[in-house]
Amino acid sequence: MISELNAQFGIQGELDFVEDGSGLILSRITNAHGSGTLCLQGAHLMSWQPVGQKAPVIWLSKDAKLAVGKSIRGGAPVCWPWFGAHATESAFPGHGFARTVPWRVIESGRDVGGETRLVLRLVASEKTLEQWPHACNLDLAITFGESLRMELTTENTGNEDFVIGEALHTYFQIGDISEVSVKGLEGCEYWDKVGGSNLKRQEGEIRFTGETDRVYINTASECVIRDDRLRRSIHVAKSGSLSTVVWTPWVEKANKMGDMGQPDGWREMLCVESANALDNQVKVAAGTRHTLIVEYRAVSY
Ligand code: BG6
Repeated sequence: MISELNAQFGIQGELDFVEDGSGLILSRITNAHGSGTLCLQGAHLMSWQPVGQKAPVIWLSKDAKLAVGKSIRGGAPVCWPWFGAHATESAFPGHGFARTVPWRVIESGRDVGGETRLVLRLVASEKTLEQWPHACNLDLAITFGESLRMELTTENTGNEDFVIGEALHTYFQIGDISEVSVKGLEGCEYWDKVGGSNLKRQEGEIRFTGETDRVYINTASECVIRDDRLRRSIHVAKSGSLSTVVWTPWVEKANKMGDMGQPDGWREMLCVESANALDNQVKVAAGTRHTLIVEYRAVSY
């Protein structure tokens, strides 16, 4: 399996596949622009660090566990075909099944600017079809360049329309949660999931003083995480996405979660998720496709 993957999709000195002790397969990417790692289970981006950045841009918990059928804490989980709890089936997994099932590599290559590109497709099974009985393909294309670009494409190959919720649930590495701000959502409405679910409006930039779990709706804006400790801004640009989720668990919830990297891992991460959730779920008509695209860039100051 590994040797076949390397023979078919490996790129000498730039892209290879290795087996982790847990039985999962990781793809390692190194090029002139930086380095990254991706787990084939879940098409889960685990790390990305562009050249010139002293710290990774993507946060991975130091207690993250790699295990068959389990989601990895940190990186960029792919939430699909629903976001959050399933609308009617409480036994179905939160944020959908895409992040915990195998994906296969369907393409790899180098772009003109020396970027490395990898495309994966979700492998449907009896279990996924039980929870999502629709004919479709789900592909994730990732391009590792000066910026990191991810394109999540849902193709409806059947004869009936369906509706999806989705997110690229990215954990960004920050210096300290109390010293960062997020700009780009001023004036937007959001569902505040802390202490119930209330619709509110964002006044000014976002700063963090406690658990924050918000689904901003009807926004295609770029967000900028300003990080005065690491002296950099992370730009989160997107298209095909009208929701942005901003999440930090804060200390109590992080302690309960148990895999956030004790004692202070939670202080060094912030999720800014490009999504189509709640009011912004997407109808994918029969025979059509929908693509959610993100592009991340770190700029030092
Ligand atoms: C966020 C949700 O997107 O993901 C939070 O808004 C949730 O409510 C968080 O706690 C983490 O989810 P999970 O399933 O990875 O623990």
